[in-house]
Amino acid sequence: MPGQSNLLIELQSVSYAYPGSKFPVLQDICLHVGKAEFISVIGPNGSGKSTLARLISGLLLPSAGRVLVDGMDTGTAETRKEIRRRVGLVLQNPDNQLVAAVVEEDVAFGPENLCLPPAEVRRRVEDAMNAVGLSQLRRRPPHMLSGGEKQRLAIAGLLALCPSCVVLDEPTSMLDPMGRQEVLQVLRHLSDSGTAVILITHHMDEAADADRVWVLGKGGVLVDDEPEAVFSRVKLLHKLGLTSTSAGDLAYRLSEQGLELPNGIVTMEDMIDYLCSVLK
Ligand SMILES: Nc1ncnc2c1ncn2[C@@H]1O[C@H](COP(=O)(O)OP(=O)(O)OP(=O)(O)O)[C@@H](O)[C@H]1O
Ligand SMILES: [Mg+2]
Repeated sequence: MPGQSNLLIELQSVSYAYPGSKFPVLQDICLHVGKAEFISVIGPNGSGKSTLARLISGLLLPSAGRVLVDGMDTGTAETRKEIRRRVGLVLQNPDNQLVAAVVEEDVAFGPENLCLPPAEVRRRVEDAMNAVGLSQLRRRPPHMLSGGEKQRLAIAGLLALCPSCVVLDEPTSMLDPMGRQEVLQVLRHLSDSGTAVILITHHMDEAADADRVWVLGKGGVLVDDEPEAVFSRVKLLHKLGLTSTSAGDLAYRLSEQGLELPNGIVTMEDMIDYLCSVLK
């Protein structure tokens, strides 16, 4: 667990059941997110990933337990607005989040609603467009952007609110490999420059890029560990109906054929390094 000064979000024994449902989707979850940490969340369909995203961003309140953002309880009415500003949520389909006629107006929408001085709005819009690489497309109507560009625009709209954390619920699921790469680069850059990132994804190679991975299943968090440790647990992942990364699964299949591979081969780079070392 990060030191108190580095702690951004904390889930204390959180449970959640949807209204009318007897069974909780998530039960007794304890999690923490450090400032600027990059976390990915994986889990089978229905394991509660989107529910968790809504709990963290304050859109849902726990049935039991507490979610704290910078020490503020999402259940406290007075701090709800502040929490919404600090934790931004990006959804799967960016079309639902784009509101204005051209890119820069879309990015300005949030800070304008905060009633900030015009110079401050302009500065934030410039910074946010630069951060996601959309400055050149500032006058372009959002509907003329590619999928990856639209998703980056949705992220810029949140960045203009200067959040401490962005939560993304399968933001790359509708994107081609190039668009996916664009979005991931932006997320890595965000975390490097101080914003925490929580990325929900079904793409294991994407998830392996994070600092830490949460594996959801059976109503709880089954694993909370570094990518090397998570994606080495191939049997557990298979049991949940998930896979490891491409390289992790390949290493597992080779070891099933009797080849002795070192532990912790998770990324393609790991696999290439290993193959080069033995084949040279
Ligand atoms: N609004 C709702 N009302 C009642 N039950 C819901 C609601 N939304 C989700 N659920 C149920 O809660 C459980 C968890 O759903 P959730 O959408 O959080 O899972 P998920 O891990 O995001 O799944 P997926 O991988 O399909 O996106 C599922 O059983 C789902 O049917
Ligand atoms: Mg979901």
